[in-house]
Amino acid sequence: MKPLLIRARLLSFHHEPQGLGDAASYRYIEDGGLLVAEGRIADLGEYADVAARAAADVETVDHRPHLLTPGFIDMHLHFPQMQVVGSYAANLLEWLNTYTFVEEQRFADQAHAARIAVRFFDELIRHGTTTAVAYCSVHKVSADMFFAESLRRNMLMVGGKVMMDRNAPEGLRDTAQQGYDETRQVIADWHGKGRNHVAITPRFAITSTPEQMEASQALAREYPDLHIQTHLSENHDEIRFTQELYPAAKDYTDVYAHYGLLGQKSLFGHCIHLSDREADAMSESGSVAVFCPTSNLFLGSGLFGLKRLTQREKPVRVAVATDIGGGTSYSMLRTLDEGYKVLQLQGERMTPFESFYRMTRGNAEALGLSHRIGALEIGHDADFVVLDAGATPAMALKMEVVTTLAEELFLLQTLGDDRAIAETYVAGQPAKSRLPG
Ligand code: GUN
Ligand code: ZN
Repeated sequence: MKPLLIRARLLSFHHEPQGLGDAASYRYIEDGGLLVAEGRIADLGEYADVAARAAADVETVDHRPHLLTPGFIDMHLHFPQMQVVGSYAANLLEWLNTYTFVEEQRFADQAHAARIAVRFFDELIRHGTTTAVAYCSVHKVSADMFFAESLRRNMLMVGGKVMMDRNAPEGLRDTAQQGYDETRQVIADWHGKGRNHVAITPRFAITSTPEQMEASQALAREYPDLHIQTHLSENHDEIRFTQELYPAAKDYTDVYAHYGLLGQKSLFGHCIHLSDREADAMSESGSVAVFCPTSNLFLGSGLFGLKRLTQREKPVRVAVATDIGGGTSYSMLRTLDEGYKVLQLQGERMTPFESFYRMTRGNAEALGLSHRIGALEIGHDADFVVLDAGATPAMALKMEVVTTLAEELFLLQTLGDDRAIAETYVAGQPAKSRLPG
């Protein structure tokens, strides 16, 4: 395949922006060129320079006046919950028991899991998300269908077979041994195949017996390079129930700490109601708290204090995510817009530069994969999103008065959704324009 020379405005972050004036935190090239070969960035810079350096025999595409950034990264969502989105419930536990634990049972059926996997990746691509960290269901076949589809599309995905052996319907329970054995099999079958990464995935402390937590610990010890994902401190009733189930633990976080599940590779969904002691434990272990704003608002779970966690003496690493299907949008633009509002309600500020950093490089750093994804750098994977800030009549009208890059980003975040994604590139290939209908 010929190398591809892309012309567009380019934006990529070096580190977390400290305020609106922090121009050193990002690189912006008004007339940029990106040369892509074999799924990687082979060259980038001013278009004229990149074009001059490129061989004569390249394909070219001109995305001007659109803005090209690294593809979005979604750090927490549930593949089997596409048909749970928008389920009417008072709170997390009612929502789980009434809808989610019913729906996920359907993923014992290979044909159903395969059908939803196709729709899942279509939706990610439609919304500009090129990497996601996903929960499958308890059924191994759901993980098989998830990874087979991501392999087919050559996407960098992190996913895990959920382990859960209590406080759920029979059709949604494994055992400690089965969860352990099947996770090992998923790792053997899929980890490192294509761009797939397997994550050790005990759903949360409520649905795992102490024996299953020990099995998770054994997996974490055997596979120290794998991510671990679970849920933590999302809802007050959930926290109370967890304390009842694990009375010896100091608090919810201590349950996971007791089983050796805290660490640099550990991703904890929600973390809304952490005590200072728990935040210290997260910080000291390098664990990541994953902010899921649309879900937290939809389920009435609470307001995540992003700055409260990142600007304390012992800072906690933070990522952002949609949490489909507790979350209500596949779009990281919509997600950061709601995140912005959650912070506003608490007197915290998040600049548009910080938002776009978090959707891209910030989440890549939280994942420990910023050497591969999340930035436009030579040698990195060619996963991009092309953004059109005038995609709808209302956006185009507002664009008439936009004069700065920060304003454009803020418009994309405030009014943008899948319509603002002009193209999504996966490993150097245009993927959105190739989606069916
Ligand atoms: N806690 C345990 N499972 C889930 C889930 O599927 N969604 C959310 N939002 N919280 C959870
Ligand atoms: Zn979740």
